[in-house]
Amino acid sequence: MSKANLLSGMQPSADSLHLGNYLGALNNWVAMQEEFNAYYMIADLHAITVPQDPKQLLANTRRTAAQYIAAGIDPNKSTLFIQSQVPAHAQLAWVLNCITGFGEASRMTQFKDKSQKADSDSASVGLFTYPVLQAADILLYQPKKVPVGEDQRQHLELTRDLAMRFNSRFGETFTIPEAHILKETAKIYDLQNPTAKMSKSNEPKGTINIMDDSSVTVKKIKGSVTDTDSEIRFDAENKAGVSNLLGIYSAVSGKSVKDLEAAFAGKGYGDLKTEVADAVIAVIEPIRQRATELLENTDELDSLLASGSARANELAEATLASVYDKIGLIPRS
Ligand code: AMP
Ligand code: TRP
Repeated sequence: MSKANLLSGMQPSADSLHLGNYLGALNNWVAMQEEFNAYYMIADLHAITVPQDPKQLLANTRRTAAQYIAAGIDPNKSTLFIQSQVPAHAQLAWVLNCITGFGEASRMTQFKDKSQKADSDSASVGLFTYPVLQAADILLYQPKKVPVGEDQRQHLELTRDLAMRFNSRFGETFTIPEAHILKETAKIYDLQNPTAKMSKSNEPKGTINIMDDSSVTVKKIKGSVTDTDSEIRFDAENKAGVSNLLGIYSAVSGKSVKDLEAAFAGKGYGDLKTEVADAVIAVIEPIRQRATELLENTDELDSLLASGSARANELAEATLASVYDKIGLIPRS
């Protein structure tokens, strides 16, 4: 039996992925490429829904791609591609825009959050239709599953609604995708503010970046916020900092939090931080090194991405052609 399709993506909106992106998303993607016919995308068209410096965007897109590959996305197993290199994304988004209600789009909470931050006058129309472009990203590839974080659940619901609406108005066209919500336990918190999730928009001191030098990572972990008692125990409510360190350690080592608590009985926070730093570096340093190597030859990296995009284009074009046909547009040839 052939494998079911799967699609996911991230925006190239920082010069490094952080540990949350790796443990919460990328790591799962690597595991899922065995079982699924996976499409992994760099969502550069989504990134420009908020202002971007062109040089920075170009660099971040390559850096994001290099980190995907370095973390284990295998371009021979999965189709790794750049959203803007597959024109059907923007084309299908237009069609889907035309079957999306204005009120429906207005209810998307991520738009509300982001447009509030940008103040409503400067928020773009692109930001408003962001979830519709995301629906196009997904539906072009007929995926059964879409692995995403909890924050993307509403966008997946919209995607399913649009797919069902299109199918019922124009005839069976799209597979109805399922969100594969990545485990809540894989959530990584900020080192300085351990009740907030680790994020590229937080202070650098609280964020472990894949592309940081090891010495920087050690310093950040050693300087992480704990609490005034000295017991190493998982208690997210009362001991958020220590619990986050235990969660990170567990995620990078595969050891259970219970076993770690037992192993640290009688030891201090200094010991915990040293071990966590070692374990984190053991995982991210090889990724950083490999990504750095890949970035030394951008021609080769670009051509690898172009061939992934060409492969993605085949399925995307076929889906788009069927959509155009169903809605009554004259075929091109
Ligand atoms: P973002 O950088 O917010 O666009 O997120 C890209 C992906 O990384 C999404 O699938 C998120 O769910 C995941 N992710 C982001 N931050 C974290 C975090 N602190 N812990 C776990 N997963 C995260
Ligand atoms: N909006 C997603 C995020 O911020 C990124 C994304 C764009 C995506 N297109 C997608 C995720 C399609 C899954 C499927 O994380």
